[in-house]
Amino acid sequence: MDFSAASVARRRFLAFGMPVALALTLAGAPLEASAAPVVYLDHGHPVRERVEDLLARMSLDDKIGQMVQPERRSIEPADVARFRIGSVLSSGGSAPSPNNARSWADMYDGYQRAALGTPLRVPMMYGVDAVHGHNNVVGATIFPHNIGLGATRDPELVRRIGAATAEEMTGTGADWNFAPCVCVVRDDRWGRTYESFGEVPGLPSAMTTVIEGLQGRSLGDGPTSVLATAKHFVGDGGTDGGDDQGDMRVPEAELRAVHLPPFREAVRRGVGSVMASYSSWNGVKLHRNRYLITEVLKRELGFTGFVVSDYNGIDQIDGEPGFTRAEVAAAVNAGIDMVMVAQRWREFIDDLRAAVQGGEVPMSRIDDANRRILAQKFRLGLFERPLADRRYLATVGGAAHRALARRAVAASQVVLKNDDDVLPLDRDDEKIFVAGRSADDIGRQSGGWTITWQGAPGATTPGTTILEGIRQVAGKGRTVTYAEDGAGVDRSYDVAIAVVGERPYAEYKGDRTDDLRLSGTDLKTIDRLRAADIPVVVVLVSGRPLDVTSELRHWDGFVASWLPGTEGAGVADVLFGDTAPSGRLPVSWPRSAAQEPINAGDGKTPLFPLGAGQPYEDG
Ligand code: BGC
Repeated sequence: MDFSAASVARRRFLAFGMPVALALTLAGAPLEASAAPVVYLDHGHPVRERVEDLLARMSLDDKIGQMVQPERRSIEPADVARFRIGSVLSSGGSAPSPNNARSWADMYDGYQRAALGTPLRVPMMYGVDAVHGHNNVVGATIFPHNIGLGATRDPELVRRIGAATAEEMTGTGADWNFAPCVCVVRDDRWGRTYESFGEVPGLPSAMTTVIEGLQGRSLGDGPTSVLATAKHFVGDGGTDGGDDQGDMRVPEAELRAVHLPPFREAVRRGVGSVMASYSSWNGVKLHRNRYLITEVLKRELGFTGFVVSDYNGIDQIDGEPGFTRAEVAAAVNAGIDMVMVAQRWREFIDDLRAAVQGGEVPMSRIDDANRRILAQKFRLGLFERPLADRRYLATVGGAAHRALARRAVAASQVVLKNDDDVLPLDRDDEKIFVAGRSADDIGRQSGGWTITWQGAPGATTPGTTILEGIRQVAGKGRTVTYAEDGAGVDRSYDVAIAVVGERPYAEYKGDRTDDLRLSGTDLKTIDRLRAADIPVVVVLVSGRPLDVTSELRHWDGFVASWLPGTEGAGVADVLFGDTAPSGRLPVSWPRSAAQEPINAGDGKTPLFPLGAGQPYEDG
């Protein structure tokens, strides 16, 4: 380190861009009367020293405040200041009104100014689920969901998507992303299948490059570095029956072989936080599993960041609704450092204080949690750049990001059937008929975690639908006719494209216990196209493989499109052959729901194996 007088003087002027003593006076903070440098406010000091200096100044209430994360709808900026709150979150779909990038930045700054108005002026962090782009914000670029990114087999592309997402977040202030989900999906009936990069640990592990995209080479690497979160620790994709928040009944060796590796890789890449899973392992809720959180994640894998609980996750520890002081103590003692307590955060604060005073939670655990949280705030540069960086507002939904998303969509298309080379669509195919409920619907093609928590059909945010993409790429010389239900199709058309699939859903509500088949409406639409006796290509917009076994033989072409997001033209790029299909299945495609769980190497014969995906003949 440089200890020269000049360097020390310069460092003293670095805190918030003004002399430390002056900065403290302006904030009205009775921190120190003297002009002696305040170590923690001076970014010239190593993070470790800044953390210790700050910690020594904090009361128990200051420390407990850092450990709680309320939801924005249940906290005003004044309470962030009063209770020294360390972080606030937007849960899925929780947005300021009007929902646009600028009002997000205003909201963020409102909370942050309140946090900075406290005596110690510790900035808060704002957490969002930007799981496929900054997806709560109307107008943001929506990238394909992880299952589609797994199909690309392109970790560098995924890193760039992380960097683009971080830029869009930065413009709105949000500095903490509850992503990536590095779950290994083992049963496609699970409603979060699409949040997984794939069914074998190597796929999510390879795609942890997204962490580098979000954070940079290390936290605070440049102005758009945001904190990433590897979730959900551990085994969320391995629950019995694909039951969301259910129980993973496997021996430790299997947990370590299948579900742990992506976390090891995320830690190796320096992920700043890890979120505990709602699920259980052999009957024990992860939220109270000290062995896995403290012994395995923190000690064995060497994770030095902090662990956040899932949304009201501590409520589930004892199986009764709500939380008790015992559950608070169990979670914190297990190694959870920040607790996402959406609404009842005041009670949480009282419970944790009482638990510390009653000796149920040692002070050393509180200090450890604070060290972990504060270190990330210092590393992120939050003390130096606490407010939204509005220079990046224009990147939200900007052309460069949409072009990147379109490339990702094209790279994620998996061609599974292509009889008589029906694809790519021919230059001679002058009349194209498009049908299906997912053809002209941004909401359906984006899926869950888009503007709202569960997502919704309809024009929920600006983008290009798959139909619009087909029209664009088809160009002027061709006729593209669309009818959602296929009405009007006849033999005069050269080819028909049915864009069908699932209605948007997210966690919990998206679990399927049925036969995983296409809906009656979709089947009817496809039948109508087939009746015209022209080649039919089915484009499936879904968060998981569906049972298409009995229908497939009637289709000439079949493309798994996953949940592409706002840039539907990427689907058309592959249909017309402007981009060669390179997507490969990230999961085994079952013959029927009865085959679930089905995974590579388990001896079952799927309809299409992991890795399936055809190139075009001349491609
Ligand atoms: C989900 C998490 C998410 C959190 C905050 C929970 O319901 O399980 O993945 O990060 O909500 O929105």
